[in-house]
Amino acid sequence: MDPVTRLGVVGCGLMGSGIAEVAARSGIDVRVAEATHDAVEAGRRRLTASLDRGVRRGKLSEEQRDQTLGRLSFTRDLGDMADRQFVVEAVAENRDIKTGVLRDLDKAIEDPTAVLATNTSSIPVVDLAVVTERPERVIGLHFFNPVPVQQLVEVIPSLVTGADTVRRTRGFAEQLGKQAIQAPDRSGFVVNALLVPYLLSAVRMVESGSARPDDIDRGMELGCAHPMGPLRLLDLIGLDTAQAVAESMYEEYKEPLYAPPALLRRMVAAGHLGRKSGRGFHTYDS
Ligand code: 3HC
Repeated sequence: MDPVTRLGVVGCGLMGSGIAEVAARSGIDVRVAEATHDAVEAGRRRLTASLDRGVRRGKLSEEQRDQTLGRLSFTRDLGDMADRQFVVEAVAENRDIKTGVLRDLDKAIEDPTAVLATNTSSIPVVDLAVVTERPERVIGLHFFNPVPVQQLVEVIPSLVTGADTVRRTRGFAEQLGKQAIQAPDRSGFVVNALLVPYLLSAVRMVESGSARPDDIDRGMELGCAHPMGPLRLLDLIGLDTAQAVAESMYEEYKEPLYAPPALLRRMVAAGHLGRKSGRGFHTYDS
């Protein structure tokens, strides 16, 4: 199977920039698309800062950083994805935004065999596949935050994904040095289906006043050896993203355990989004 040499990544937020970084470090030419000039510049800064941090920590040399940056190009025009063999969509966890991007990519990409992968956390892949003219080439490829660190990707074929698309996606995951598991096309797939109810339970504990955020986090860090407690992890994921994921899962299962608690909604409304806004269940220096 031919390796991917020309990758597209749409969206350069937390996840998109991580995916682009890992791919460029693996030697792949990566074109990154963002919607606005400001978003392109923010994405470029995020990627450069992450690579600089890698140099400071001795993970890569200055020369490797510069070579990696040389493999990254940025655009605001999805038409520039025309020559890509594989594209990962990593825009906001919003059904309308994702379907709009996939429709546009489907029109823009010249190679009819190119794969369109979505990094959705919770939207059923088939719902996104059927808006394109190539549903058999659409697949879920779910990365974990921080992408350069977490080994896992979930590969999520929908009911209409072709076997060749699954093979190529697994091959691409291997090219990135990731470990793949195959997950069902059900909202939350494997990992979020287990993780999200746990995170929401921690929010409910705070909401009811039965335990303090620090105690909840230290409990899971020290008692269960989790690298971070549930509220710190929510702050890392972003409370807005967590709310969107919980809403999709609640829409799918109608189970109260997936319903975003009122406290989570209020914090998102207040702009307390976690690390990215400097304040969530904990506070962070910029
Ligand atoms: N980019 C690159 N490397 C990073 C990084 C980043 N953003 N953040 C941390 N690292 C690396 C560091 O360089 C360091 O590597 P080293 O040990 O080889 O030097 C290592 O990770 C540990 O980093 P730190 O010492 O700075 O910090 P911690 O030890 O506290 O680890 C953490 C930070 C990696 C975030 C760790 O706490 C962790 O793994 N937390 C759990 C994260 C998790 O559960 N993610 C999944 C979220 S769910 C999800 O993404 C799905 C979505 O759909 C919601």
